[in-house]
Amino acid sequence: MSERILVTGGAGYIGSNIAAALCKRPGTDVLVVDDFSSGDWRNLVHVDCEVRATDCDDPALLDEIASGAFSTIFHEAAITDTTIMDQRLMVEVNTNAFADILEASHASATRVVYASSAGTYGNSPALNKVGNGEEPENIYGFSKLAMDRVAYRWHERHSSTIIGLRYFNVYGPGETHKNEKSGNKTASMMLQLYEQVKAGNQPRLFKYGEQKRDFVYIRDIVAANLAALDAPRSGVCNVGSGQARSFNDIVNTISQALELELETEYFDNPFSFYQNHTEADLSDTLSLLQWQPEWTLEKGMFDYISLLEKGHRGPAETA
Ligand SMILES: NC(=O)c1ccc[n+]([C@@H]2O[C@H](COP(=O)([O-])OP(=O)(O)OC[C@H]3O[C@@H](n4cnc5c(N)ncnc54)[C@H](O)[C@@H]3O)[C@@H](O)[C@H]2O)c1
Repeated sequence: MSERILVTGGAGYIGSNIAAALCKRPGTDVLVVDDFSSGDWRNLVHVDCEVRATDCDDPALLDEIASGAFSTIFHEAAITDTTIMDQRLMVEVNTNAFADILEASHASATRVVYASSAGTYGNSPALNKVGNGEEPENIYGFSKLAMDRVAYRWHERHSSTIIGLRYFNVYGPGETHKNEKSGNKTASMMLQLYEQVKAGNQPRLFKYGEQKRDFVYIRDIVAANLAALDAPRSGVCNVGSGQARSFNDIVNTISQALELELETEYFDNPFSFYQNHTEADLSDTLSLLQWQPEWTLEKGMFDYISLLEKGHRGPAETA
């Protein structure tokens, strides 16, 4: 018997990578629901799934969830542009819709795996650990922390399992639309810098490139989501590489991968809020998901750049 899985935000970067991986599992039917506000059809060209253009809290979809139409929901839909400041809109789309999905999924004992974010930690000192230093610095980070709080309230009484994954800075195939669609360039530093270099420019970094982030490769993000299918209990955990690496490290790796001598141009950081050091503590992740990252920055970036060089733009599993 086949299993039907819902991926909200499945035309987006991470959602399309999850959908592509699920479609490769025998006996799995995938429904992607997306409002196409930031996602892009091109991510789904080589993903053999059903697609529905609507809101993730569309009443008809909630009825389907409540009636037990899906064995699992991967909830990736969200406003993902962290520079959007409309507080009501951000909480409505990110938090309210998630609360509706949890309510509907309780009725049918459907497992929910959802995207939270390292934005919940703001600029708190690393190591970042769930339950510590949750001081979001913008409405996006707050909307994700509010989602986790909704989930915590359900944990004891929900009829199934709810897993929150706090992604750190994700990079890898499937994110090209983020630079093309939004006025703000919201793709990873890896793609921004790669595109600068390919356009014949020197890489540009905020002074002096020593800011550190936990960069996590998309193949690890997908693996963590698949691991959540078997997680034995509800919980919220970090999904990162567990390593903080500098922006200069990214430029050095691009220069190695493309065999180019690159000279970085440094400029003043215009943002008053900026995460200068993020690093995921993964101890809770290992115990909840039985999953560990496998892609170092160098290994992930070499894989990514080789796909970009071949012109591959969709999710990793469709290469
Ligand atoms: N990319 C990262 O580094 C990162 C880091 C932390 C958390 N996240 C989270 O991961 C999830 C996926 O992010 P992404 O990077 O793939 O971004 P994305 O913008 O590519 O994907 C989000 C998708 O959700 C869709 N969407 C938005 N509102 C919707 C709605 N109301 N109903 C239906 N669809 C809707 C968009 O059209 C888009 O396809 C998001 O929840 C995001 O907050 C991403």
